Amino acid sequence: MNFKEELEKKTGEVEDILAAYLPKPEGFQSKVLEAMVYAVSAGGKRLRPLLMRESAVLFGETGEELPCFMAAIEFIHTYSLIHDDLPALDNDDYRRGRKTTHVVYGEDIAVIAGDGLLNYAYETALRAFRKAVTIEDYERIECAMHILGRKAGVYGMVGGQCADLLAEKPETEVTEEQLLYIHKNKTAALIQAAMTIGAVLAGADEEAVAQLERCAENIGVAFQIQDDILDVTSSLEVLGKPTGSDEKNHKLTYVAMHGLEESKRQVEALSEEAVGILKVFPHRNVFLENLVEQLIYREK
Ligand code: FPP
Ligand code: MG
Repeated sequence: MNFKEELEKKTGEVEDILAAYLPKPEGFQSKVLEAMVYAVSAGGKRLRPLLMRESAVLFGETGEELPCFMAAIEFIHTYSLIHDDLPALDNDDYRRGRKTTHVVYGEDIAVIAGDGLLNYAYETALRAFRKAVTIEDYERIECAMHILGRKAGVYGMVGGQCADLLAEKPETEVTEEQLLYIHKNKTAALIQAAMTIGAVLAGADEEAVAQLERCAENIGVAFQIQDDILDVTSSLEVLGKPTGSDEKNHKLTYVAMHGLEESKRQVEALSEEAVGILKVFPHRNVFLENLVEQLIYREK
């Protein structure tokens, strides 16, 4: 199997996991459930669950509790996209090539669909405890829950989003330090959560988890700089979402600060370092190395 076929197969497996854990739209709340399912089913690269599973593979066996966390992290990612696209935030009408949730269901339902997904994510992750047998299983799941809550919350993605929103205000002078804080938290934190949760559940030790956390930070920052590059160089047709939105929102990006060429160089340096770290672990995972490179140099 070549990389593309393997990626399709593995993405299909993630889709099956998501389908198995998604709630069914029924009852008086069926509208919000429908909106949640709409947002999750819009496709997307399923990068975070994929990174989680492949990071677990680096440390050997993956247990039965992994799928609960794979679904949970994609639900959290999707909630963040629903809220990010709202008129009060980025006001985007398209995402993943489809109308955004608030355009289809209205702002009111989109807000609570995000809330619903966030809560449902933790409910789903908590199901992992039911698969635990030994005390060590319980400890690993507790650690994974902690990482998920921390990295998705105010000391991670939400914190990064806050700094990003403030940075967009025309009166704010953004420093490089703030910009890096934004990238490390808004984008990299959830990628760190994905990779370190995979490792923790597969029994990695503290030092290995710390190394993987650094690797994921590089991937996240490179991914975000690439996102900013594509916002300047790509199109709605290729990207599935409007380009030029950073300029529209007066957003200071790495590209605006350092120019396209330097940004591309930075993406390359970060990715090289990240892949270098991946090669030190007990099991080589060539698919993961390829995935990281492909992600960083993606066209959409
Ligand atoms: C695209 O991911 C998403 C990012 C680059 C991260 C942006 C971060 C936010 C919007 C955080 C918002 C936070 C809050 C609290 C609202 P992707 O390319 O993996 O998208 P895909 O899943 O569609 O492929
Ligand atoms: Mg946005």
